[in-house]
Amino acid sequence: MSSKQVLVCQYQSCLAQGSAEVLAAFLGCSISEVSIVPSECQGQCNLGATVRVLPDEIWYCRVKPSDVSAIAESHLQNDQVVDRLLHPRIHPRYST
Ligand code: FES
Repeated sequence: MSSKQVLVCQYQSCLAQGSAEVLAAFLGCSISEVSIVPSECQGQCNLGATVRVLPDEIWYCRVKPSDVSAIAESHLQNDQVVDRLLHPRIHPRYST
C-alpha cells in the first residue's frame, strides 16, 4: 500500500465548520502509513470542512468528526472512496 497524506484544512471557514475537531479525530485514528497534515485553505471554503487525500487527489467536503471513521476505515485502510462525502464539483461523476 502506498503511503497517503490527509490534508485537513485549518483555515477560517473550515474552522467555523468544525475542522479542528475533524483533525483531532483523524489524529486519534493512528492509521499506519498515513500522515495527517493540518493545511492552509484549500480553496473550497463554502463546503468545509475540507479534507483532501493525496496522492489519490480525492476531495471530501462537509466532513464532520463523525465521518472520520468512515474515511479512515474505507478509504485509508481499504482504498474504497466514501462516495457520500465526495466534493460534487471536483468529483461530479460521483454525485447523484
Ligand atoms: S477555509 Fe478550508 S478550504 Fe478554504
